[in-house]
Parts: sequence; C-alpha cells; structure tokens
Amino acid sequence: MSAKILLGVSGSIAAYKAADLVRLLRRRGWEVSVMMTRSATAYVGPLTFRALTGRPVAAGEFHEEGEHMFLHIDLARWADLVLVAPCTANLLAKLAHGLADDIVSATALASRAPLMVAPAMNTAMWENPATRANVATLKERGVQVLDTEAGELACGEVGEGRLLAPEVIAEAVAAFLAGRSGP
Ligand SMILES: Cc1cc2nc3c(=O)[nH]c(=O)nc-3n(C[C@H](O)[C@H](O)[C@H](O)COP(=O)(O)O)c2cc1C
Repeated sequence: MSAKILLGVSGSIAAYKAADLVRLLRRRGWEVSVMMTRSATAYVGPLTFRALTGRPVAAGEFHEEGEHMFLHIDLARWADLVLVAPCTANLLAKLAHGLADDIVSATALASRAPLMVAPAMNTAMWENPATRANVATLKERGVQVLDTEAGELACGEVGEGRLLAPEVIAEAVAAFLAGRSGP
C-alpha cells in the first residue's frame, strides 16, 4: 500500500540511524518527507535526507528559508503517518504537552495523521518519572510509542533507552499501516 510518511528527526546521537530508516521506508514504496529539529541538524545534515528522499527537508525554526510560510501546516496535511525517530526526551515531553515551538512539534500538533514515536535516550532519562508520565500520556491518547532496546548507550551506560533498529521501526510502520488499510 502506498503511504506518505512524515519522519521527524530530533537531537539524539542516534539521529544518524534515521538515514537508514529512510532508505528502508522508501524501499517499501512509501513516500518519505523529513523534518528535523535544530538540534538534530548537529548530528546529520539536512542534505543527507534531501538526497535520500528526493524532497526538501524542513529543518530548524519556522520559515527559515523564507520560501514557504505555512510549511508545517502543509506537511501536517500531507502525511498519512507522522513518525518521530529518534524521539528525544525533550521532544517526547513537548508532544505529551502539546507544545509547538519548533517545526517537528508544531507539525505533529497540526497533523490529524496518526503519530508514532521511537524514543532514544540515556537510561536515566528513559526511567525518569517525568518521561514515564509523558509516555503514559501519549499512549492514553492513542500515540504509538515504540519500545526502546536495552544495550550499550553512546554515553557508556548499559541499559534501556537505545533506539530500536531501523528494520524493527520499519516493520512497526508496516504493521501499523496494514492494520489501518482494513481487510
Ligand atoms: C552528544 C549528545 C547526545 C545526545 N543524545 C540524546 C539522546 O539520545 N536522547 C535525548 O533525549 N537527548 C539527547 N541529548 C540531549 C538533546 O540533544 C537535548 O535535550 C536537545 O535539547 C534536544 O533537542 P530536540 O528535542 O529539539 O531535538 C544529547 C545531547 C548530546 C550533547
């Protein structure tokens, strides 16, 4: 089934894995458009995603390029699914509270499409009661919050909080879309 996936990338060390994720999503025949927080652009350049998707990348603050006044609204309408991977603790909190002060959180809030997030963060951040409460809030609202993996983290700790492998995220998207397409 053809689908339009709007991928939000936030400022995790795992942001580079989003490039692989884009390739896997495209391989399944889906259109992919990428938006990035300003912080994410420190880890991966927008040009990488532009090349992999063949589409302009919305990055950083609003209207930065001055070419499109309502980019977040257009992207929000375009998407069949908004997927945030990796999703930082910060962005998770913003999504849970309906904040909209950057292109990714604003577009997610402005979209009527279903939202799926793949968190990635240090174990203490992941286990923090604030993050647990934000995850619970999002799940209550029907947001698909994917699990994290246990393993070695970039900060040197070993524990929960690693981004799921891109293959696993792509499979979760496929399962979700299949469930929505009906019998
Ligand atoms: C090297 C480095 C790696 C980071 N990795 C993560 C991470 O994996 N997950 C996370 O939640 N925050 C991580 N942070 C902190 C975020 O970058 C920070 O909270 C930032 O404000 C997130 O911005 P964003 O949510 O707008 O992308 C990291 C920071 C640094 C300096």
